[in-house]
Amino acid sequence: MIKINNLNVRFKNVHAVRGVNLEIKEGETVAIVGESGSGKSALAKSLVKLFPKKTAEFSGEVIYNGKNILEFSEKELRKVRGKEIGMIFQDPMTSLNPLLTVGFQIRESYLRHFPEKSRKDAVKRTEELLDLVGIPKDRMDHYPHTLSGGMRQRALIALALAASPKLLIADEPTTALDVTLQAQILDLLKDIQQKLDMSILLITHDLSVVAGFCDRVLVMYAGKIIESAPVDQIFETPQHPYTRRLLLSKPRLDMPQNEPLHPIEGTPPDLGKSITGCSFCPRCTDSIQACKNESPPIFTITPGHTTSCWLSTK
Ligand SMILES: Nc1ncnc2c1ncn2[C@@H]1O[C@H](COP(=O)(O)OP(=O)(O)OP(=O)(O)O)[C@@H](O)[C@H]1O
Ligand code: SF4
Ligand SMILES: [Mg+2]
Repeated sequence: MIKINNLNVRFKNVHAVRGVNLEIKEGETVAIVGESGSGKSALAKSLVKLFPKKTAEFSGEVIYNGKNILEFSEKELRKVRGKEIGMIFQDPMTSLNPLLTVGFQIRESYLRHFPEKSRKDAVKRTEELLDLVGIPKDRMDHYPHTLSGGMRQRALIALALAASPKLLIADEPTTALDVTLQAQILDLLKDIQQKLDMSILLITHDLSVVAGFCDRVLVMYAGKIIESAPVDQIFETPQHPYTRRLLLSKPRLDMPQNEPLHPIEGTPPDLGKSITGCSFCPRCTDSIQACKNESPPIFTITPGHTTSCWLSTK
C-alpha cells in the first residue's frame, strides 16, 4: 500500500535517512528498530512530510495510491494526514491539546476529515472510538491532564483513528509507560489492527516489544536499513552483527533467567559527517578489511530476508 524508494532526508548538514527502500502491504504490521538517533522518526515523519517548513530536504519517492507524497502540496498533505495515514507521535507537536477535552479533539478531527457529517454523527463516532480503545464514555469531557498515562495514550490512539486511516504510524507509542501498560497498549493496537484491517508501522528502540506484534522487522542503523526479515527470522537467524548485538543487549521473555546482557560498546556515527565504509565498522567485532573501504550493498539471504554486511557475500 505504501512503497518507499531510495529515500534520503537531510536537515542542513545532517543526513538522517540514507537511501531507504521499504514497502508496507495492506494489513501488514512492520516494525522499525534501532538505537536513538538512527533516523527512525525522520523516516516515519517523511511518510507524511511532517517537518516544520524548509527544515528538511528530501530525495527519492514515497508512493501511496500511485502518487509520490513527497511532491504533495500542503493542501494535499492535509488530506493524507489522519485520513489515509494516522500518526501517534510522542512529541508535543502532534500530541493531545491540553486545553481541549479528549472528546472535543476526537470529534473535531472526525469533522475536519468528514465535513459532510453532522455533530450527532461525530459524537457517535467519538463514543465508538473511546469504546474501541477502552476509555469509559464518561471520560469524554475530561481534559488530557486529568487522565492517567495509559489512558492518555489510549486517547491519542483514538484521535489517530478518528478518520479511519489505512496505515497507522506509531512512533515509540509506549516508551513513556511502565512495562505492564506497554504490553496493554501493544495488545490494544494489535486488536484494533485486526478489527479495522489497517497496516501499522511501529517504531521502537526496543526489539523485545516486536515479537508477537509484527510480521516484519527492519533494523535501522545510521540512517540505513541494515537488516529486514520476517519477525521470527530476526530472532532465530539474525544475520547482521548489529542485529545480533541488539538481541544480546536487551532482556527478552524468551531468554533464560540470569542470562547476562551485553550492551553494545561505542556510539553510532555522527550523521552530520560523511561515512566511509560500513557505518557499523567502528563498533563491529567481526569486521574485515573490505568493511573499512566500502559500504556493503544489500544481500538477499532467503526470500524476504535481506542484510547489508560484507560477511553475507558468501
Ligand atoms: N528537525 C530536525 N532538525 C535537525 N536535525 C534533526 C531533526 N530531526 C532529526 N534530526 C537529526 O536526525 C538524526 C536522526 O534523528 P531521529 O529523530 O530520526 O532519530 P530516532 O531514531 O527517531 O531517535 P530516537 O530513538 O531518539 O527517537 C539525528 O541526528 C537528529 O539529531
Ligand atoms: S560489513 Fe563489516 S563492519 Fe559492517 S557489520 Fe558487516 S562485518 Fe561488521
Ligand atoms: Mg524517534
